[in-house]
Amino acid sequence: MIISSPLDFREAARRRLPRFLFDYVDGGAQDETTLLRNRRDLGAVDLRQRVLQDVSSLSLRTTLFEEDLAMPLVLGPVGIAGMLARRGEVQAARAARAAGIPMCLSTVSICDVGEVAQRAGGSIWFQLYVIRDRGFMRDLLAAAKAAQCTALVFTVDMMVPGIRYRDARSGMSGRHARLRRMAQAIAHPRWAADVGLCGRPHKLGNLAPVLGGRSGLGDYMGWLAANFDPGVTWDDLGWIRGMWDGPLIIKGILDPRDAREARALGADGIVVSNHGGRQLDGAPSTASVLPAIADEIGCALKILVDSGVRSGLDVVRMLALGADGVLLGRAWAFALAARGEAGVAALLAMIEREIRVVMALTGVTDIAQVDRNILAAGDRHED
Ligand SMILES: Cc1cc2nc3c(=O)[nH]c(=O)nc-3n(C[C@H](O)[C@H](O)[C@H](O)COP(=O)(O)O)c2cc1C
Repeated sequence: MIISSPLDFREAARRRLPRFLFDYVDGGAQDETTLLRNRRDLGAVDLRQRVLQDVSSLSLRTTLFEEDLAMPLVLGPVGIAGMLARRGEVQAARAARAAGIPMCLSTVSICDVGEVAQRAGGSIWFQLYVIRDRGFMRDLLAAAKAAQCTALVFTVDMMVPGIRYRDARSGMSGRHARLRRMAQAIAHPRWAADVGLCGRPHKLGNLAPVLGGRSGLGDYMGWLAANFDPGVTWDDLGWIRGMWDGPLIIKGILDPRDAREARALGADGIVVSNHGGRQLDGAPSTASVLPAIADEIGCALKILVDSGVRSGLDVVRMLALGADGVLLGRAWAFALAARGEAGVAALLAMIEREIRVVMALTGVTDIAQVDRNILAAGDRHED
C-alpha cells in the first residue's frame, strides 16, 4: 500500500497486525466518546492565514528541559510497542534519535530500558506507573538512571485500567483469548515471522524481575489491574520527586486544580492528556481543556499535551492552544507497525514538513512564536 499521509499508516497497520493488536492500539474506553472527541475538537481549531511575511527561513528548534530538540515533539509512551514490530521500542527510539527528538519508553515495554538505551542511543525518557511494590519502583528508577534517561514521565491517570470492550471482543482479553490470538497470528504471516518468531523474547522487559518467569502478556490488562496501586495520592508523589533529581513530568492532567498540585509538588512539567481516550470515557478532549490549564500554570511548568494528534497541523494547533511540546501516541505506533523504524522516520519527516508549511501559511518564522495569535478569532480565548 502507498503511504502518502500520516493517517495512511493506520490502514497499513490494520493490514499488517493481528486484530487483537490493531484493536489494542486503535481502541478507546467504553463507548469511545472521548477518543472521537479528541479528534473532533482538535480538528475544529481554526488558524488564521497571514501573507507576505517573509517566511523564507523557518526555525522549528526548541528547548525542553534543557534538551535541544529539532522540533517540539516527543514519541510518547506506548505499552508493548515491541509486539507491533520486531524489538519495536528500539526501532522507534532510533527513528526518534535520527529526527532529533526524544522517545519516552513505557514501563510496560517489551524491550527493557537498558536494551533501548544501548541499541538506540540518543535521548530516552522513561515513563513510570505507580506499582504496589515500592521497592521495585525504586529499582526501576535506578535502571532508568543507569540507562541515562533524561526525563521521568510519571503517569497518574491509570490508577485502574479503563474499561476497553474492544479488547474483550478482539481476543486481547476475555475468554479463549490465547487461542484466538494464535489463530489471528497465523492469519498474518508477515507479522508472525517478523515479531512472533524473530522479535523474541516477548515479555514485559522492565518488569521481568517481578514477573517471576511469566511474560506478563497472557493477561496483560489483568496484570496491570492487580499490580498498579489505586491508593496513590499527591503526597506519595513527593517520594518520587525525592528519588529523581532530573526533570519530572506528570502525565494525565485534565483539570487546572491538578495542574496546580503538580506545580506545588515541584514537577518540571505536565502532560495534559486523557490517555488518548483510553481511560475515563466522557472526559473532555485535551484541546478543550488546554487553554484553561495554560492560563493557570503560565510559565511555571512546561506544558506538554497529547491525545488526538495525528499530523503536523495538529501539532501547531496544540502549540497555539498553549502547549510547549506535543507527544505522539497512536500516530507513531501505527507507523512502527506498518513499516518499522523506516515508518516512524517517514512519519516524523511528514510531520516536520507539515509544521513548516503551516508556519509559513500562518506567517510564523520561529516555532516559539506560535501562540493564540495564530488562532482564528473564534478559537481565541481572550483574557
Ligand atoms: C497502544 C497504547 C499504549 C499506551 N501505553 C501507555 C503506557 O504504557 N504509558 C502511558 O503513560 N501511556 C500510554 N498510552 C497513552 C499514550 O502515551 C498517549 O497518552 C495517547 O496515546 C495519546 O493519544 P493519541 O494516541 O490519540 O495520540 C498508550 C496509548 C496507546 C494507544
